[in-house]
Amino acid sequence: MLAVENLEVVYEDVILVLKGVSLQAPEGSIVALLGPNGAGKTTVLRAITGLLDVHRGRITKGRVTLNGTELNSMSAPQIVSAGVGQVMEGRRIFREFTVEENLRAGGHTASRQQIAEGLERSYQMFPVLAERRKQVAGYLSGGEQQMLAIGRALMAQPSYLLLDEPSLGVAPKIVQQLRDLIVQINEAGTSVLLVEQNAAMALSIATHGYVLETGRIVMDKPAAQLREDDDVKEFYLGLHGNERGSLRDVKQYRRRKRWLS
Ligand SMILES: Nc1ncnc2c1ncn2[C@@H]1O[C@H](COP(=O)(O)OP(=O)(O)OP(=O)(O)O)[C@@H](O)[C@H]1O
Ligand SMILES: [Mg+2]
Repeated sequence: MLAVENLEVVYEDVILVLKGVSLQAPEGSIVALLGPNGAGKTTVLRAITGLLDVHRGRITKGRVTLNGTELNSMSAPQIVSAGVGQVMEGRRIFREFTVEENLRAGGHTASRQQIAEGLERSYQMFPVLAERRKQVAGYLSGGEQQMLAIGRALMAQPSYLLLDEPSLGVAPKIVQQLRDLIVQINEAGTSVLLVEQNAAMALSIATHGYVLETGRIVMDKPAAQLREDDDVKEFYLGLHGNERGSLRDVKQYRRRKRWLS
Protein backbone atom coordinates (compact mmCIF):
# COMPACT_ATOMS: atom_id res chain seq x y z
CA MET A 1 0.00 0.00 0.00
CA LEU A 2 1.16 3.48 -0.89
CA ALA A 3 0.01 5.96 1.74
CA VAL A 4 0.19 9.71 2.09
CA GLU A 5 -0.52 10.82 5.64
CA ASN A 6 -1.49 14.29 6.69
CA LEU A 7 0.92 15.87 4.22
CA GLU A 8 1.80 19.53 4.32
CA VAL A 9 3.97 20.99 1.56
CA VAL A 10 5.42 24.46 1.29
CA TYR A 11 7.16 26.04 -1.73
CA GLU A 12 9.95 28.54 -1.22
CA ASP A 13 9.38 28.31 2.54
CA VAL A 14 6.25 30.46 2.35
CA ILE A 15 3.65 29.15 -0.08
CA LEU A 16 1.56 26.52 1.71
CA VAL A 17 0.16 24.31 -1.07
CA LEU A 18 -0.85 21.03 0.61
CA LYS A 19 -2.72 21.52 3.87
CA GLY A 20 -2.87 18.07 5.44
CA VAL A 21 -3.52 15.67 2.57
CA SER A 22 -4.12 11.97 3.26
CA LEU A 23 -4.73 9.33 0.64
CA GLN A 24 -4.14 5.65 0.11
CA ALA A 25 -3.53 3.48 -2.91
CA PRO A 26 -3.84 -0.20 -1.94
CA GLU A 27 -1.80 -2.72 -3.85
CA GLY A 28 -3.46 -3.72 -7.11
CA SER A 29 -5.72 -0.68 -7.27
CA ILE A 30 -6.20 2.18 -9.67
CA VAL A 31 -6.76 5.30 -7.59
CA ALA A 32 -7.85 8.57 -9.17
CA LEU A 33 -6.77 11.95 -7.83
CA LEU A 34 -8.99 14.64 -9.34
CA GLY A 35 -9.14 18.36 -8.94
CA PRO A 36 -9.03 21.71 -10.74
CA ASN A 37 -5.92 23.57 -11.92
CA GLY A 38 -3.65 24.60 -9.10
CA ALA A 39 -5.26 22.29 -6.51
CA GLY A 40 -1.93 20.63 -5.72
CA LYS A 41 -2.22 17.32 -7.60
CA THR A 42 1.24 17.49 -9.15
CA THR A 43 2.64 18.55 -5.79
CA VAL A 44 1.27 15.35 -4.22
CA LEU A 45 3.11 13.32 -6.85
CA ARG A 46 6.33 15.30 -6.35
CA ALA A 47 6.10 14.65 -2.61
CA ILE A 48 5.78 10.90 -3.25
CA THR A 49 8.64 10.70 -5.75
CA GLY A 50 11.07 12.91 -3.82
CA LEU A 51 11.16 15.60 -6.50
CA LEU A 52 9.95 18.51 -4.39
CA ASP A 53 13.40 19.94 -3.73
CA VAL A 54 13.96 20.40 -7.48
CA HIS A 55 11.06 22.85 -7.31
CA ARG A 56 12.09 24.52 -4.05
CA GLY A 57 9.35 22.65 -2.24
CA ARG A 58 9.51 20.88 1.11
CA ILE A 59 7.36 18.56 3.23
CA THR A 60 6.72 20.39 6.49
CA LYS A 61 4.38 17.83 8.06
CA GLY A 62 3.18 14.28 7.50
CA ARG A 63 4.80 11.44 5.61
CA VAL A 64 4.68 9.11 2.62
CA THR A 65 5.02 5.35 3.08
CA LEU A 66 5.24 2.35 0.78
CA ASN A 67 4.30 -0.86 2.57
CA GLY A 68 5.22 0.84 5.83
CA THR A 69 8.64 2.11 4.68
CA GLU A 70 9.04 5.87 4.77
CA LEU A 71 9.76 7.27 1.33
CA ASN A 72 10.12 10.87 2.38
CA SER A 73 13.55 10.26 3.88
CA MET A 74 14.82 8.75 0.60
CA SER A 75 16.33 10.35 -2.50
CA ALA A 76 14.45 10.32 -5.81
CA PRO A 77 16.59 7.46 -7.28
CA GLN A 78 16.10 5.40 -4.10
CA ILE A 79 12.34 5.87 -4.43
CA VAL A 80 12.49 4.59 -8.03
CA SER A 81 14.46 1.57 -6.79
CA ALA A 82 11.83 1.03 -4.09
CA GLY A 83 9.33 0.51 -6.90
CA VAL A 84 7.68 3.86 -7.59
CA GLY A 85 7.71 5.00 -11.21
CA GLN A 86 6.14 8.12 -12.61
CA VAL A 87 5.18 9.87 -15.80
CA MET A 88 5.47 13.58 -15.23
CA GLU A 89 3.07 16.26 -16.40
CA GLY A 90 3.73 17.23 -20.01
CA ARG A 91 5.48 13.92 -20.80
CA ARG A 92 9.10 15.17 -20.74
CA ILE A 93 10.53 12.76 -23.24
CA PHE A 94 13.92 13.42 -24.82
CA ARG A 95 12.76 14.85 -28.12
CA GLU A 96 16.10 14.61 -29.94
CA PHE A 97 16.64 10.98 -28.95
CA THR A 98 15.13 8.00 -30.70
CA VAL A 99 12.21 6.07 -29.28
CA GLU A 100 14.51 3.25 -28.26
CA GLU A 101 17.03 5.57 -26.60
CA ASN A 102 14.17 7.08 -24.60
CA LEU A 103 13.06 3.65 -23.43
CA ARG A 104 16.63 2.67 -22.53
CA ALA A 105 16.90 5.82 -20.40
CA GLY A 106 14.07 4.47 -18.24
CA GLY A 107 16.06 1.33 -17.52
CA HIS A 108 19.37 2.95 -16.65
CA THR A 109 19.56 1.10 -13.34
CA ALA A 110 18.77 -2.27 -14.92
CA SER A 111 21.04 -4.99 -16.26
CA ARG A 112 21.53 -5.57 -19.98
CA GLN A 113 19.11 -8.50 -19.92
CA GLN A 114 16.48 -6.55 -17.98
CA ILE A 115 16.73 -3.76 -20.56
CA ALA A 116 16.28 -6.22 -23.44
CA GLU A 117 13.24 -7.70 -21.71
CA GLY A 118 11.88 -4.26 -20.94
CA LEU A 119 12.17 -3.18 -24.56
CA GLU A 120 10.43 -6.36 -25.65
CA ARG A 121 7.59 -5.74 -23.20
CA SER A 122 7.22 -2.09 -24.27
CA TYR A 123 7.10 -2.98 -27.97
CA GLN A 124 4.48 -5.62 -27.31
CA MET A 125 2.37 -3.24 -25.31
CA PHE A 126 2.89 -0.30 -27.69
CA PRO A 127 3.19 -1.60 -31.27
CA VAL A 128 3.36 2.00 -32.59
CA LEU A 129 6.62 2.42 -30.69
CA ALA A 130 8.05 -0.76 -32.17
CA GLU A 131 7.42 0.57 -35.67
CA ARG A 132 9.23 3.78 -34.79
CA ARG A 133 12.00 2.55 -32.58
CA LYS A 134 14.72 4.26 -34.64
CA GLN A 135 12.80 7.50 -35.13
CA VAL A 136 13.44 10.69 -33.22
CA ALA A 137 10.86 10.96 -30.43
CA GLY A 138 10.06 14.62 -31.10
CA TYR A 139 8.23 13.60 -34.29
CA LEU A 140 5.76 11.36 -32.48
CA SER A 141 2.18 12.57 -31.98
CA GLY A 142 1.08 13.72 -28.53
CA GLY A 143 -0.56 10.37 -27.78
CA GLU A 144 2.48 8.42 -28.97
CA GLN A 145 4.76 10.57 -26.82
CA GLN A 146 2.54 9.83 -23.84
CA MET A 147 2.83 6.11 -24.59
CA LEU A 148 6.59 6.48 -24.84
CA ALA A 149 6.70 8.25 -21.48
CA ILE A 150 4.64 5.44 -19.94
CA GLY A 151 6.82 2.79 -21.60
CA ARG A 152 9.93 4.51 -20.26
CA ALA A 153 8.53 4.53 -16.70
CA LEU A 154 7.66 0.84 -17.00
CA MET A 155 11.24 -0.10 -17.92
CA ALA A 156 12.16 -0.08 -14.23
CA GLN A 157 9.22 -2.45 -13.53
CA PRO A 158 7.65 -0.31 -10.83
CA SER A 159 5.10 -1.79 -8.44
CA TYR A 160 3.41 1.63 -8.40
CA LEU A 161 2.99 3.87 -11.41
CA LEU A 162 2.08 7.53 -10.91
CA LEU A 163 0.56 9.22 -13.94
CA ASP A 164 0.16 12.99 -14.12
CA GLU A 165 -2.66 13.91 -16.53
CA PRO A 166 -1.89 11.42 -19.29
CA SER A 167 -4.93 12.55 -21.30
CA LEU A 168 -3.92 16.21 -21.43
CA GLY A 169 -3.63 17.46 -25.01
CA VAL A 170 -4.34 14.03 -26.45
CA ALA A 171 -7.03 13.36 -29.09
CA PRO A 172 -10.24 11.74 -27.70
CA LYS A 173 -9.70 8.52 -29.63
CA ILE A 174 -6.22 8.19 -28.16
CA VAL A 175 -7.54 8.94 -24.66
CA GLN A 176 -9.56 5.73 -24.99
CA GLN A 177 -6.41 3.85 -25.97
CA LEU A 178 -4.51 5.28 -23.03
CA ARG A 179 -7.35 4.33 -20.76
CA ASP A 180 -7.24 0.73 -22.00
CA LEU A 181 -3.47 0.69 -21.59
CA ILE A 182 -3.71 1.84 -17.99
CA VAL A 183 -6.15 -1.00 -17.31
CA GLN A 184 -3.78 -3.43 -19.03
CA ILE A 185 -0.80 -2.20 -16.99
CA ASN A 186 -2.83 -2.56 -13.82
CA GLU A 187 -3.97 -6.07 -14.73
CA ALA A 188 -0.34 -7.01 -15.29
CA GLY A 189 0.28 -6.23 -11.61
CA THR A 190 1.17 -2.54 -11.35
CA SER A 191 -0.84 -0.36 -9.00
CA VAL A 192 -1.72 3.04 -10.42
CA LEU A 193 -2.19 6.50 -8.96
CA LEU A 194 -3.84 8.49 -11.72
CA VAL A 195 -3.97 12.29 -11.61
CA GLU A 196 -6.53 13.58 -14.08
CA GLN A 197 -8.70 16.52 -14.95
CA ASN A 198 -10.58 14.15 -17.23
CA ALA A 199 -12.72 12.83 -14.39
CA ALA A 200 -14.94 10.73 -16.63
CA MET A 201 -11.98 8.77 -17.94
CA ALA A 202 -10.31 8.37 -14.56
CA LEU A 203 -13.47 7.35 -12.69
CA SER A 204 -14.39 4.84 -15.39
CA ILE A 205 -11.36 2.72 -14.48
CA ALA A 206 -10.52 3.67 -10.89
CA THR A 207 -11.51 1.69 -7.83
CA HIS A 208 -11.34 4.72 -5.56
CA GLY A 209 -11.21 8.45 -6.11
CA TYR A 210 -10.14 11.56 -4.25
CA VAL A 211 -10.99 15.14 -5.09
CA LEU A 212 -8.36 17.69 -4.13
CA GLU A 213 -9.23 21.38 -3.94
CA THR A 214 -6.87 24.14 -2.84
CA GLY A 215 -4.65 21.73 -0.99
CA ARG A 216 -7.32 19.74 0.81
CA ILE A 217 -9.09 16.46 0.07
CA VAL A 218 -12.77 17.38 -0.16
CA MET A 219 -14.07 13.99 -1.33
CA ASP A 220 -12.81 10.49 -0.69
CA LYS A 221 -15.05 7.75 -2.04
CA PRO A 222 -15.21 4.57 -4.11
CA ALA A 223 -15.08 5.61 -7.77
CA ALA A 224 -18.57 4.21 -8.41
CA GLN A 225 -19.98 6.56 -5.76
CA LEU A 226 -18.09 9.55 -7.10
CA ARG A 227 -19.50 8.82 -10.56
CA GLU A 228 -22.97 9.05 -9.06
CA ASP A 229 -22.31 12.11 -6.89
CA ASP A 230 -24.38 15.01 -8.21
CA ASP A 231 -21.76 17.65 -7.54
CA VAL A 232 -19.02 15.63 -9.21
CA LYS A 233 -21.33 14.90 -12.12
CA GLU A 234 -22.26 18.52 -12.58
CA PHE A 235 -18.86 20.00 -12.01
CA TYR A 236 -16.29 17.48 -13.15
CA LEU A 237 -18.21 15.37 -15.60
CA GLY A 238 -19.18 18.53 -17.40
CA LEU A 239 -22.94 18.23 -17.50
CA HIS A 240 -23.18 21.96 -16.95
CA GLY A 241 -20.33 23.22 -19.03
CA ASN A 242 -21.28 26.89 -18.86
CA GLU A 243 -21.45 27.05 -15.11
CA ARG A 244 -18.20 25.25 -14.77
CA GLY A 245 -16.35 27.97 -16.59
CA SER A 246 -17.25 30.60 -14.05
CA LEU A 247 -16.61 28.55 -10.92
CA ARG A 248 -13.34 27.43 -9.49
CA ASP A 249 -14.24 24.18 -7.77
CA VAL A 250 -16.89 21.95 -6.28
CA LYS A 251 -16.80 23.81 -2.97
CA GLN A 252 -17.64 27.07 -4.71
CA TYR A 253 -20.23 25.29 -6.81
CA ARG A 254 -21.99 23.94 -3.70
CA ARG A 255 -21.96 27.34 -2.07
CA ARG A 256 -23.55 28.85 -5.16
CA LYS A 257 -26.20 26.11 -5.20
CA ARG A 258 -27.06 26.66 -1.52
CA TRP A 259 -27.29 30.35 -2.17
CA LEU A 260 -29.60 29.84 -5.16
CA SER A 261 -31.94 27.45 -3.32
N1 LIG B 1 7.82 25.48 -7.72
C1 LIG B 1 6.79 26.16 -7.25
N2 LIG B 1 6.98 27.30 -6.56
C2 LIG B 1 5.93 28.01 -6.07
N3 LIG B 1 4.64 27.63 -6.21
C3 LIG B 1 4.39 26.51 -6.89
C4 LIG B 1 5.44 25.71 -7.45
N4 LIG B 1 4.89 24.65 -8.07
C5 LIG B 1 3.57 24.79 -7.91
N5 LIG B 1 3.25 25.89 -7.21
C6 LIG B 1 1.91 26.35 -6.81
O1 LIG B 1 1.30 25.34 -6.04
C7 LIG B 1 -0.08 25.20 -6.34
C8 LIG B 1 -0.36 23.76 -6.73
O2 LIG B 1 0.33 23.47 -7.93
P1 LIG B 1 0.27 22.04 -8.61
O3 LIG B 1 1.10 22.11 -9.81
O4 LIG B 1 0.58 21.01 -7.60
O5 LIG B 1 -1.29 21.95 -8.97
P2 LIG B 1 -2.05 20.94 -9.93
O6 LIG B 1 -3.27 20.51 -9.20
O7 LIG B 1 -1.14 19.91 -10.44
O8 LIG B 1 -2.51 21.91 -11.12
P3 LIG B 1 -2.66 21.61 -12.69
O9 LIG B 1 -3.96 20.91 -12.85
O10 LIG B 1 -2.68 22.97 -13.29
O11 LIG B 1 -1.49 20.80 -13.13
C9 LIG B 1 -0.36 26.20 -7.44
O12 LIG B 1 -0.91 27.34 -6.85
C10 LIG B 1 1.01 26.51 -8.01
O13 LIG B 1 1.06 27.81 -8.51
MG1 LIG C 1 -0.48 19.39 -12.28
